[in-house]
Amino acid sequence: MVIADPHQIKNRATGSPVNTVPNDPSADAPVGSTWPGLTDEAHSQWYIERFRAMAARGDDLQGEARLVDALAPRHARLLDAGCGPGRHGGYLATLGHEVVGVDVDPALIAAASAEHPTATWVVSDLSQLDLVLDGETATFDGAFIVGNVLDFVPPEHRNRVLERIAAHLRPDAFFVIGCRAGNGFTAADVDTAISTMDLVLEQRFATYDMRPWQADSPFSVSVLRAPAR
Ligand SMILES: C[S@@+](CC[C@H](N)C(=O)[O-])C[C@H]1O[C@@H](n2cnc3c(N)ncnc32)[C@H](O)[C@@H]1O
Repeated sequence: MVIADPHQIKNRATGSPVNTVPNDPSADAPVGSTWPGLTDEAHSQWYIERFRAMAARGDDLQGEARLVDALAPRHARLLDAGCGPGRHGGYLATLGHEVVGVDVDPALIAAASAEHPTATWVVSDLSQLDLVLDGETATFDGAFIVGNVLDFVPPEHRNRVLERIAAHLRPDAFFVIGCRAGNGFTAADVDTAISTMDLVLEQRFATYDMRPWQADSPFSVSVLRAPAR
């Protein structure tokens, strides 16, 4: 697996270096991910091409990002957690937000970087996320983990992933978590996870176009809020 050198990544909004805890391929500790692209580069390429084909067909790929944009102040700094090839963060960057996308798969980050040059794209395992931007711990006006990312995080790492994202939130920041009840976190799992974090549940929807959530909804979109302080 090719590892991007974190020291070569620049914050595209300021030109300053971005530092992260990089994935260490020689480490014994398992990466907090079951994403198939980590062991099968063809899968990553298939995933990239799949979304390129959908975009070329004119499919709506921005539903999640529209909800994020509605929550965000203008020119917000946003964390796209598990960004893949960047369809959400790339779109949000075109709206004027300062986007940092993080993903464990270097091939997807390379595609995001090539296709969406105005955002900053970083290879990192979210369960070890420790982002430094412009010499300071990076903090965000909003973060989102959408597109079934949590399906590909082993259950024992999921709370840690949410904690590491929450650790990068500014006061009053929002945090959107999308998950499938069947495969990923259930809404109840989200509630349990955040009970130990400084976050409150502000809204819960069944879809990204804000249909009402019910206990038997197959999908949940939780909007969490950090304290204003
Ligand atoms: C189904 S894709 C979704 C990509 C993107 N969020 C979207 O909606 O298009 C799941 C993504 O989660 C990423 N992922 C899984 N485990 C991760 C981890 N521990 N840290 C960072 N990214 C992870 C994978 O590399 C993959 O890009």
